[in-house]
Amino acid sequence: MTDARLKGGGKMVLDIHSGRNEMTDEDRKKFEEELLNAKKLEAIGVLAGGIAHDFNNMLFVIMGNINMAQLKIEEGHPAQRHLIEAEKACLRAKDLTQKFITFSSGGSPVKRHVSMRDLVSSVASLVLSGSITSSEIKAPTDLWDVEVDENQMRQVFTSLLENAGEAMSRGGIISISAENVEISETGAEGIDPNEGRYVKVVISDEGMGIPEENMPNIFDPYFSTKYRGSRKGMGFGLTIAHSVIKKHNGHIMVESIPGNGTTVSVLIPASAQDGRALAAGRPNVPAPRKRILVMEDEEMQRDLIQTMLEHLGYEVNTALDGERAVELYSKAIEAGRDYDAVILDLTVKVGMDGREAVRKLLYLNSEVRAIASSGHSIDPIMHDYASYGFCDVLKKPYDLEDLREAMGRVLGR
Ligand SMILES: Nc1ncnc2c1ncn2[C@@H]1O[C@H](COP(=O)(O)OP(=O)(O)OP(=O)(O)O)[C@@H](O)[C@H]1O
Ligand SMILES: [Mg+2]
Repeated sequence: MTDARLKGGGKMVLDIHSGRNEMTDEDRKKFEEELLNAKKLEAIGVLAGGIAHDFNNMLFVIMGNINMAQLKIEEGHPAQRHLIEAEKACLRAKDLTQKFITFSSGGSPVKRHVSMRDLVSSVASLVLSGSITSSEIKAPTDLWDVEVDENQMRQVFTSLLENAGEAMSRGGIISISAENVEISETGAEGIDPNEGRYVKVVISDEGMGIPEENMPNIFDPYFSTKYRGSRKGMGFGLTIAHSVIKKHNGHIMVESIPGNGTTVSVLIPASAQDGRALAAGRPNVPAPRKRILVMEDEEMQRDLIQTMLEHLGYEVNTALDGERAVELYSKAIEAGRDYDAVILDLTVKVGMDGREAVRKLLYLNSEVRAIASSGHSIDPIMHDYASYGFCDVLKKPYDLEDLREAMGRVLGR
């Protein structure tokens, strides 16, 4: 293990600018160690991803059954308390498995053309809003486009900016810059970054920095020097960032001066052509992701269905009840971004249910592809869904495979 990514990172940046390969033996050794570290992280990712997928399927069943039990016992029953606790633990487990999936091979990127300038500035305004830190963003207007999985990349910059903010408990400035870099000569054999065009994003903070002895471990899962909570301080931020960047054939480097601050540099391969040229019509423009609207009143199930659909590569919007689903659907039509399918819960505690919602949606679009979703298999709609205007049904609890198959049937794939 080494701190190569840190000190070596600074040198690499210089090399990139000069376009020459000026690696010393020491640099080479450090980069080789980095490669080993990347292989170790990849192996952990494969293992964690496999476990996470199996675990997620079981979790849906556990959660679905907890929900079913909650529906079957009356409010105020002494067992409710235990079910609520079990439900909370499932939610934490779901969060954790999602993190594993993101850094494992299972979370393969669904790439689209994205402007890094827009992506980074929108993440920065979200992450830093209301915090005592302020940020400065410098990026040329002709910054190259990149082809990335937008959700994953947002997660990377969210983690990096959160880390920068968390390192400056008394406030300070986070500098963010982006530039085009061209590497004209490959580094030592097999060592990133390879030659090519990259967009480089650099995030610098004025925080407490990273002690030398922690450097070799910062990308490891569960390595954290922070107070550990169920969502924060898990030591997953940099693990996920590293894995996502690697999956995009990019490179991440960290430099730090303890007491002074930390600089994280990310290199992401630039698109072969920029977005404007692509908009003009290139044959291999990536197909836009199919858009799915999910109406589900239970927050836990809503989140889980969204997570699974996103994992399957869909873009997902959610609504709590029929009214909101109809509202979102009609706004989407107005914006010319119709949903490819909707999943409607048949039984909602309050408000418009799926049966009524599908009638309204059919009124807006007679070709709407709607799936009825219910835990009550005795509901007549579940057996005679077509006469109610649905294309398919999903019986809860369903797993990822059931969902994948249903979406395939409804979207004709
Ligand atoms: N900008 C930074 N300044 C100082 N230390 C940092 C910075 N970024 C990362 N670190 C160190 O690296 C460790 C690992 O970071 P990572 O983002 O993976 O986990 P975390 O922030 O502790 O937890 P999580 O991201 O899951 O909330 C941190 O605990 C911290 O010690
Ligand atoms: Mg973090």
